[in-house]
Amino acid sequence: MTREEALDSIKANVENQNLVKHMLATEAIMRALARRLGEDEEEWGFTGLLHDIDVELTEEDMNTHSKLGADLARELGASETMAHAILAHNEAHGIPRETKLDKGLFCADPLTGLITAGALVRPDKKLAGLEAKSVKKRFKEKSFAAGVDRQQIAQCSELGLELDEFIELGLEAMKKIAPSLGL
Ligand SMILES: [Fe+2]
Repeated sequence: MTREEALDSIKANVENQNLVKHMLATEAIMRALARRLGEDEEEWGFTGLLHDIDVELTEEDMNTHSKLGADLARELGASETMAHAILAHNEAHGIPRETKLDKGLFCADPLTGLITAGALVRPDKKLAGLEAKSVKKRFKEKSFAAGVDRQQIAQCSELGLELDEFIELGLEAMKKIAPSLGL
C-alpha cells in the first residue's frame, strides 16, 4: 500500500479531524520508534496511521473496534503482523501483545494524547515551545489529561526504552509534523 491509499481510506472512513490527527501523530511516533529500534519504519508507520480507522464505523463499540480496523488494513495490503498489532491494541479482545510492533503501537497510542494535551494548555497552543521535561511532569500529574493511561505509556519498558527517552522521542516526532496536527 502507498501512504496515499492509506490516507484516502482514512478520509473515506473518518470524519472527526481530531481522530485523523491522532492517527497521524501515532504514525509519526511509530516511525521514530522503528528508527530507534532498528525496525521496519514503513511497517510501523502504516500500523500507527491505520490503527483507529474503524472508530467511527464501529461507533466506539470496544467489542468490534480494531477487528474491523484490522480487516480494513488487510484490504489495503497490511501484513498479518500489522493486523495483529491493530487487533491487540484494543485490550477488550484479550489478545496478548507478542511482537515489538504490538508493544510499540500499544504504548505510542496514548503518548499522542499526553503530548497534545501538553501543547494545548500552552498560551500559544503550539508544540514548538513544549519541552520534554514539562511532558514528563505532566505524566506524573494524574489529574492532567486524566483519560490518558500512564501505565500504557510506561509499557515502553517492554521495548527496552526508559520512559524519559520515550517521551523525548515522541515529542520530537510530533514536533516534526506539527502543522498537520494543527499544533
Ligand atoms: Fe488510538
